[in-house]
Amino acid sequence: MAEVRTEQLWRTQNRHPGDRESLFGAASEVFDGGPVLYPGSYVDIAASFVFPQVTYVDSDRRAAQFLADRDGVTRIVDGNRRYEEPGEIEFIHADYRSDLPVPEPGFDLLVALYAGFVSEGCKRYLRPGGLLLANNSHGDAGMASLDPDFELAAVINKRDASYLATSRDLDRYLVPKKEGQVVTDELLRRTNRGVAYTRSPSAYLFRKTAG
Ligand SMILES: C[S@@+](CC[C@H](N)C(=O)[O-])C[C@H]1O[C@@H](n2cnc3c(N)ncnc32)[C@H](O)[C@@H]1O
Repeated sequence: MAEVRTEQLWRTQNRHPGDRESLFGAASEVFDGGPVLYPGSYVDIAASFVFPQVTYVDSDRRAAQFLADRDGVTRIVDGNRRYEEPGEIEFIHADYRSDLPVPEPGFDLLVALYAGFVSEGCKRYLRPGGLLLANNSHGDAGMASLDPDFELAAVINKRDASYLATSRDLDRYLVPKKEGQVVTDELLRRTNRGVAYTRSPSAYLFRKTAG
């Protein structure tokens, strides 16, 4: 029963097969490796196809049930992982804004995809020099761009069916489309979604410089 539910949830999550794995693969080209924290993951275990050590965090009951099916999740990951040794997969059923039972800082990559202001709630768990992988769907990339502890290190663009990270011409990104628009913390919180920028990469990689 749990097995069937796990497979079904994964099929729904993976409705564009390989897409998320490709995004994480592009991020891994820039990332030096180490433990990964993925708050607001839901059931996106594609991170474990690419990264050997991932801690997932979500407050959703279905995510908790999914990740509790260790055999089912391991089967899916083992069928797709790009590394040799079995992956280390942890799940914390919690609000990521609460105090998480993890080392602080203990992670080299923080994933923030479609899950609110993860950069703000979980920055403390990221080591200085570590990377934040964020998109701008909920304004998190914009929020990170306002944070002096983060600097833009690369962007990830989609070309045809695959993703590519680049560190070229970074000053051309995060420029508001609306001329003269000033992006503020208050604006991002009020709208709860990203402002429109002149360029829209699929994701951004910010390096934590301090904090
Ligand atoms: C739209 S889904 C995105 C899932 C995944 N990141 C992806 O890109 O496919 C957002 C997820 O974030 C979780 N989430 C949002 N706010 C959260 C919070 N404060 N603490 C824990 N989980 C949260 C929700 O429960 C949901 O599973």
